[in-house]
Amino acid sequence: MKAFTIKSARLRFSAMVKVYLVTSNRAKAAEIISALAEAGITAEIAPIKKLEVQSDSLEEIARVAAESLPPSNAPLVVEDAGLFITALNGFPGPYSHYVYKTLGCRGILKLLEGVEERRACFKSAVAAKMPGGEVEVFTGETWGVITREERGDKGFGFDPIFQPEGSAKTFAEMSLEEKNLWSHRGKAVRRLAQWLLEKYSAEAGGR
Ligand code: IMP
Repeated sequence: MKAFTIKSARLRFSAMVKVYLVTSNRAKAAEIISALAEAGITAEIAPIKKLEVQSDSLEEIARVAAESLPPSNAPLVVEDAGLFITALNGFPGPYSHYVYKTLGCRGILKLLEGVEERRACFKSAVAAKMPGGEVEVFTGETWGVITREERGDKGFGFDPIFQPEGSAKTFAEMSLEEKNLWSHRGKAVRRLAQWLLEKYSAEAGGR
């Protein structure tokens, strides 16, 4: 009989895993759905609103949002992300949503006018609430630089002014799949996917 390898277990059990995303950001959802699909996990947006709490920690924001979701018989997934700019002592960080709405990419470029230190880090915290109520958080981060001007028209948010270390393109010059290979969100979601597949395959194996 053929040996039962981790790889075949993943393929076999991944077909059974489906999660629901709690987000109103369709561009973000598309990235998460694509990254999960690469691992064989299907996902769709759940018509639920998440709680937005204020905290200096993205992990805390994602965890509290996940914990406050209603009970469900499928995993529910929330994500919180932020852009941490070194020369601005990590601003806007957890306040990125508000800062994007008020200052936008142009405002950030203006704040950094004449500043040589352009390093910045995008961070993502993805939290999954499991049917039993357990919450797990996965993180990902990507270092890069804030460009001198906006480049590209894909993606969302600060994508046109963020160029990851080692790439010649900004996130906004990348396809969704390419951005996922580099991005904070892609990394966090791949960690979630691996955990889900291991959990479901262990549960199925233990039956
Ligand atoms: P949120 O609170 O997780 O929705 O993210 C906060 C804000 O950070 C968003 O409104 C975007 O402006 C920005 N942001 C988060 N992730 C990304 C990304 O992957 N690319 C560009 N901007 C992002």
